[in-house]
Amino acid sequence: MIEDKVIQEIKDRLDIVEVVGDFVSLKKSGSSYKALSPFTTEKTPSFFVSPSKQIFKCFSTGKGGDAIEFLKEVDSMTYIEAIKYLGEKYGVEINESESNYVVNTEKESLLIVLNKTKEFFKENLNSSDGKSIAISYFDHRNISKEMVEKFELGYSLDKWDSLYNHLIKNQFEDNQIINAGLILENNNKKYDRFRNRIIFPIHNLSGKVIAFGARIIKDEKNQPKYINSPETSLYIKSKVLYGLYQSKNNIRKEDTCYLVEGYTDVISLFQIEINNVVSSSGTSLTNEQIKLISRYTKNITILFDGDKAGIDASLRGMDLILENDMNVKIVSFPEGEDPDSYSKKVGKDKFLEFIKLNETNLINYKINLLNTKYKDDPVKKSEMIFDIVRSISKIPNSIKRSVFLKEASNLLDINEQALISEMNKLLIGKENKFSPTNNLIKEEKKEDNKTITSAINFYERECVRMLVNYGTTDFEVIGLDRKSFIDYFLNEIEDVEFENKNYLEIIEVFKREFKKDKIIDINYFLTDEFAALKDDIIDLSANKYEISKQWRDKFNIHVSEETDSLKKTTYTNILRLKFRLIRKMINDNMQNLNTSDKVNIDEETIKLHNKLKSAEIDIAKKLGNVTSV
Ligand code: GTP
Ligand code: MN
Repeated sequence: MIEDKVIQEIKDRLDIVEVVGDFVSLKKSGSSYKALSPFTTEKTPSFFVSPSKQIFKCFSTGKGGDAIEFLKEVDSMTYIEAIKYLGEKYGVEINESESNYVVNTEKESLLIVLNKTKEFFKENLNSSDGKSIAISYFDHRNISKEMVEKFELGYSLDKWDSLYNHLIKNQFEDNQIINAGLILENNNKKYDRFRNRIIFPIHNLSGKVIAFGARIIKDEKNQPKYINSPETSLYIKSKVLYGLYQSKNNIRKEDTCYLVEGYTDVISLFQIEINNVVSSSGTSLTNEQIKLISRYTKNITILFDGDKAGIDASLRGMDLILENDMNVKIVSFPEGEDPDSYSKKVGKDKFLEFIKLNETNLINYKINLLNTKYKDDPVKKSEMIFDIVRSISKIPNSIKRSVFLKEASNLLDINEQALISEMNKLLIGKENKFSPTNNLIKEEKKEDNKTITSAINFYERECVRMLVNYGTTDFEVIGLDRKSFIDYFLNEIEDVEFENKNYLEIIEVFKREFKKDKIIDINYFLTDEFAALKDDIIDLSANKYEISKQWRDKFNIHVSEETDSLKKTTYTNILRLKFRLIRKMINDNMQNLNTSDKVNIDEETIKLHNKLKSAEIDIAKKLGNVTSV
């Protein structure tokens, strides 16, 4: 066990902002820091770190806690792993003999056997076979000693059971070794998965080995060039990027991430000191991998082979990156070259220059393909144009979308309006498919508290204006309902708290009289009893109520045939008021979180937040249904 006083020492020294900052790009926000949640995909930050409380809180997932808890969540560390990691980071010595703790989780047990194995593969480089086979392979491929060390490359001997025997000798158990994917079994005979291969350990974000990639020494038929560890609870391929551990800080510093296809591409670029590079290792890029990169930068440049497979892969990757609201550029290498071979050929300066000259955004890339490949094929050409528009439609940011559309229109020499209407078709289709409320929620999200408050004022007034002017109207008259307007109105606003006290009083008077079966109108208020309300009443009863253009545009209001669609107007006005009230409560609640000094307020805040959010969606849905009619 690690002594309590050592753990305390670590806790005293650590700063959660630094610890989290190694995994997530934090932005200062008031007295705390915020970021996009590392635990989920989101577009607006709901992940907070409080330096004063030394805790983090993720509102999207509900996760929260101290620095140790964060490490456990973000990088699957065990408690002990987290302590050791922090000990290393903050220079607190943990006596190894003190940390001979009992292994108690599956992940922990996997980590131990995998990291022991990594050491073994590294040591093999010093054996005579290691020297004559692996080291000479590195020499032959121009992989420097420094890179071998940095990426902890190794060698698996040309034997059936050298690793297995080594691990058994070190007291590891069969099932532990098998679970880690290091050993295969056939007819009860166990043998090493990796034999006579160059080993590329795959690290997690804290530098622990979670899997291996292994390359054959000499290309042979009937043998895969690369084999990999199988997936385990530690190693989920779709969530891992090769090289991210080594490059994450550089990616943040350069604010760009180069994405390459293979292990050797990563290593070769590092060797020429381009060290903001990761690889998806031959599998097609996933959302989770993009999400990982987005913790460090919004800018990805794809460096893929210029062959057909490389082009297809970059096209797929590009759309996915755009969907995640990131910026993507593409560089194609000359036929037959990949970043590894090309960097070896030309060196750092020329390599960077090549990227600079050849990096294109998605439109240029697709248009180039179009011009070179499909120039004389009108069908393919129109498919490609549609494809370009479809890619653009995936960009969540509307301003970015219109910039790209304009560019496409120029380059393709196609009327911009035609492209816009094509894209709108796609966007409408998408909105209908996923949720009719998306648009509304997105659109209204831009409102800050000041705007919300003025909207609340506006809609309170609108609602009460409807009441005092149409209180006596019978809905039957306009063929909608037999109920009286007042009955309907009072019912709808039952749970709405008006902020304007005068309006509140007016409503109360309507209510009071209605209970006595009496429907009053504006004249009722023109007595001395209501002198204090006189100004408001006159204001509200102005015959043709003038709503300024500014307000109409801002809140998209139609006032023209108010009496013709009385029910609908009332209904939407009340909903819009409720919507803003909820919005304000959400903002206030969030504010509460930022400024609160109480530690345990968080749970309540989250609960309230979730409740408000679902109320918000409810209302948005109703509004969406009405306004789309
Ligand atoms: P080198 O030939 O060593 O330079 O590798 P490379 O990275 O150039 O290989 P290539 O471009 O052929 O493949 C890119 C990536 O795909 C590799 O780094 C591997 O991750 C993966 N890959 C390649 N061949 C195989 C294979 O046979 N099996 C599996 N599972 N993955 C492969
Ligand atoms: Mn290669």
